[in-house]
Amino acid sequence: KTAEILRELEEKCATPNTKLKQIADAMTVEMHAGLASEGGSKLKMLVSYVDNLPTGDEEGVYYALDLGGTNFRVLRVQLAGKSGIKSQEFAEVSIPPQLMIGTSEELFDYIAAELAKFVADEGDTFHLPPGRQRELGFTFSFPVMQLSIDSGTLMRWTKGFSIQDMVGQDVVAELTRAMKGQGVDMRVSALVNDTVGTLAGGRYDNKDVVIAVILGTGSNAAYVERAQAIPKWHGPTPKSGEMVINMEWGNFRSSLLPLTEYDHALDVESLNPGEQIFEKMISGMYLGELLRRVLYRMAEEAALFGDIVPRNLKTPFILRTPEMSAMHHDTTPDLVVVANKLKDILEISNTSLKTRKIVVKLCNIITTRGARLAASGILGILKKLGKDVFRDGETPKTVIAMDGGLYEHYTEYSKCLENTVYELVGDELSDSIKLVHSNDGSGIGAALLAASHSRYIEVDG
Ligand code: BG6
Ligand code: GLC
Repeated sequence: KTAEILRELEEKCATPNTKLKQIADAMTVEMHAGLASEGGSKLKMLVSYVDNLPTGDEEGVYYALDLGGTNFRVLRVQLAGKSGIKSQEFAEVSIPPQLMIGTSEELFDYIAAELAKFVADEGDTFHLPPGRQRELGFTFSFPVMQLSIDSGTLMRWTKGFSIQDMVGQDVVAELTRAMKGQGVDMRVSALVNDTVGTLAGGRYDNKDVVIAVILGTGSNAAYVERAQAIPKWHGPTPKSGEMVINMEWGNFRSSLLPLTEYDHALDVESLNPGEQIFEKMISGMYLGELLRRVLYRMAEEAALFGDIVPRNLKTPFILRTPEMSAMHHDTTPDLVVVANKLKDILEISNTSLKTRKIVVKLCNIITTRGARLAASGILGILKKLGKDVFRDGETPKTVIAMDGGLYEHYTEYSKCLENTVYELVGDELSDSIKLVHSNDGSGIGAALLAASHSRYIEVDG
């Protein structure tokens, strides 16, 4: 029976290249639809108001707040024009889980208090000219309808956050209110998604960066679009002729996606049923939970762990993706890491080697599907940009800035993702397309965008 469930899962999760190419095409179609009109697609294709990416000339001291990943970060960078980043310092704290489902006031007061601490700790080192207010780039990694570069309303929460009074509100106004309350005198000069921040940070390091992908708790991508290719944009044509689009690809869905009963159950029981279907198949918040669900079925229907179903196996989200990753990467002959994790997390002792091997196999099936689907998303963007075809003589470089805990730490996932991208685009393009890890790029990117949107920029010349 175990073998049967395993085989069924393997079949349902299959992602042959032909299928991935179809999914990429479907992604491209949805991208067009989302750019054509507001609400035209499940893909929101949000206009970021970033029409100029960092040039490397940015100067001065800027701050960034990064909210929406596993941790919350405060950052200060000292930019020295062409000489690059002179100094940078950051503080990182985790968000108390109860704040993720409380009120906006509690969440923002907490953030502002951390920011106040950070500023209080810096002493006299970073004096700004008299009368000049500190400026901040705010990375807020949720779907936001931007009204300008420094304002925008929350469309809905994702990734386990659920604070109803915040939906529809301007996140910058809320942060500004909280900062005032904590005595922090700062102005938010750029509000960005983490993908947009990563794109900006990536571009600062490498001028060929045109796409950014986050694979962490959630997943999403942003890229540089031609302004003319955005029919729903009625604002002024940017001088650069370009506009960064935050795709919110986590909400992509298509009948082509290889969904299983586990995905359906996970979705129905989630905080946001029917939403973020792509994200729920590929991102870090959910991979471990999918594994738990398969193990649960195997325990119940095939007595994988003996006569009784281990109690902890019934607890949603008890099996986190980092633990799954540790089991997947277990190189010990007896799979000792797997044994220990099963014991520590699920309180299952005395597993046989055969059982442990099944666990590793499941990790591999779930992860491979996720990574390959993420690769098909990347192919979708490359197709939209016409960068998926080899042009003899001129093959422009396309660099994709990657970040997020899943990409950074789950080696089997990132290896599989990268290999799949190359399989899909073919050998001819393997030299011109590059994935680079842009570590914490989104915070730096947000600070850089705060710099280029500083209200003092004219004064400074
Ligand atoms: C970080 C970026 O490195 O990755 C964040 O700076 C981003 O902006 C985060 O949100 C996503 O990863 P995770 O794993 O923390 O969700
Ligand atoms: C979720 C958010 C999105 C963010 C992504 C990665 O999909 O909706 O805004 O970019 O997670 O953090």
